[in-house]
Amino acid sequence: SADELDRRIRHAKGVLGDRLVILGHHYQRDEIIRYADFVGDSFQLANAAQTVPSAEAIVFCGVHFMAETADILAQTGQSVILPNLAAGCSMADMADIDSVASAWAELERIYGTEPDAQGRQPIVPVTYMNSSAALKGFCGQHGGIVCTSSNAQTVLEWAFERGQRVLFFPDQHLGRNTAKAMGITPEQMPLWNPHKPLGGNTEQQLVDARVLLWHGFCSVHKRFTTDQIDRARIDHPGVRVIVHPECPMPVVDAADEAGSTDYILTAVAAATEPTTFAIGTEINMVSRLAAEYPQHTIFCLDPVICPCSTMYRIHPGYLAWVLEALVRGEVLNQITVEPGVASTAKIALERMLAARP
Ligand code: 13P
Ligand code: SF4
Repeated sequence: SADELDRRIRHAKGVLGDRLVILGHHYQRDEIIRYADFVGDSFQLANAAQTVPSAEAIVFCGVHFMAETADILAQTGQSVILPNLAAGCSMADMADIDSVASAWAELERIYGTEPDAQGRQPIVPVTYMNSSAALKGFCGQHGGIVCTSSNAQTVLEWAFERGQRVLFFPDQHLGRNTAKAMGITPEQMPLWNPHKPLGGNTEQQLVDARVLLWHGFCSVHKRFTTDQIDRARIDHPGVRVIVHPECPMPVVDAADEAGSTDYILTAVAAATEPTTFAIGTEINMVSRLAAEYPQHTIFCLDPVICPCSTMYRIHPGYLAWVLEALVRGEVLNQITVEPGVASTAKIALERMLAARP
């Protein structure tokens, strides 16, 4: 039962004390978030993994790419544990290392590899945090960098100081929304379809490109529509619409603001007057905001419940299971990134952590 699981988790946490740190992403369900020592967006959780002090184990309540990142950044060799190994991210799976490497080979054939007069490379790879460690390693090896939804513009500026163009993967929407905010036109951001020669573009389109967008997307955020925003504005005059930048561009354009999960939380927490918020992001986070800030009216833009099904796979039963194993001295579901990949991925992650606006 839920009470029994609660008792087991609290007991194991108590025994493990500060040998254990539990990190939780904002999209985790309430029954997990209540045990987290630190809750944040992907950037904050990567930072936390790097700075947690003496813990022996980091139990990561989030998805696989986040746990991989924690393993790469953990300074003192903590074991990183993902309570359910089936908690992946369908967007991260949309770019694999072989397809990206073959796209890169085609692009090098078209652009060459010589820097221009200002010393800028023909193209710089930028991967969204929501990607495998192998892709972060690819970026580390090819002069590229990682970004999250909270620093995408800073990172693209970093990339344009070093390159004439950017190959951005896997999320086309975050790439497009960020590039648009920087004044890049739709013609300058062709989509790269890995199943077609030249990604489905002409050579001239590729030469004129500033940002090449990989064809990936988040199946939760692509559901939001401008009709939902219109509806919210009719039903709730004065509503403040905030969406995640993984939403399609027309949705981000129609919203009042767009930002990472931490941006959304901070915006709600900072509102001093009772406010109506329509939020375009994952439902567990929106429902928790609604419960925690009863002075505001907070609802999800999508009337049909939209959880991230993989985040939801972290269930208290799995948490109790991995914690009780730790109490017995057993590390279950450890995420380890192979050292060769980890060292190059770390380069790309550290470039991101150092790239401040
Ligand atoms: P944040 O970095 O905004 O927390 O986003 C992570 C994520 O997976 C959004 O879908
Ligand atoms: Fe991946 Fe979307 Fe879930 Fe975020 S919300 S973890 S991008 S599937």
